[in-house]
Amino acid sequence: MTEEFDRAFWEERYRRHRSSDPGEPNPQLVAEVAELVPGSALDVGCGEGAEAMWLASRGWWVTATDIAASALERARRHAEILDDGVADRIEWVRADLTGEGAGERRFDLVTAHYVHPVGPPEAMLANLAAAVAPGGTLFVVGHHPSHRRHASAAEAYVAAERLATELAPERWEVVVAETRSRPAGGHHGHGTTLWDSVLRARRRV
Ligand SMILES: C[S@@+](CC[C@H](N)C(=O)[O-])C[C@H]1O[C@@H](n2cnc3c(N)ncnc32)[C@H](O)[C@@H]1O
Repeated sequence: MTEEFDRAFWEERYRRHRSSDPGEPNPQLVAEVAELVPGSALDVGCGEGAEAMWLASRGWWVTATDIAASALERARRHAEILDDGVADRIEWVRADLTGEGAGERRFDLVTAHYVHPVGPPEAMLANLAAAVAPGGTLFVVGHHPSHRRHASAAEAYVAAERLATELAPERWEVVVAETRSRPAGGHHGHGTTLWDSVLRARRRV
């Protein structure tokens, strides 16, 4: 029996698992994005908002989206207790980025971390890519498929190298498409090693 990562699944997950803080921002994001000049950012599948808050604290104007209203409620509460105007720099939006896409708006940075959409990851990648402004950055982190846990669905895993082939070379410069290991801890940790699939690409036009 595998999990079905639909809206009901995520709403239930956030209602059931209580947390008092959003955890640390994803270290791959911190490593890759710290060097970028802040502008507008779209964080897809933001969960409890750790990455959105980190981006906002670095000067980005963030649109943070999630399929689950229960995740956004929590993220908003986490942000409200932060200083330095972080909450004012984040707009929280409920949206299904597999189906609807991000609309007409284009962003300097579009990012997603461990979003397990229903359906193939390529469908969501197309929506993410379409939301990147010319000159902007697409940054996606997922769990690598070679470390798939027995009972979890295939959609939860993605290889950056495979996703990179979806990006037309005349429109995209792939900067990073690789697998990276890191010790699990805190945010997603179970005392083991995590294998992150990391895709970073720059939109040429
Ligand atoms: C494993 S959690 C990761 C949360 C956060 N990005 C992080 O790294 O901690 C996956 C998140 O993606 C959201 N999600 C799943 N499918 C989605 C979709 N189609 N559109 C937008 N968000 C989605 C879920 O509600 C959940 O918050």
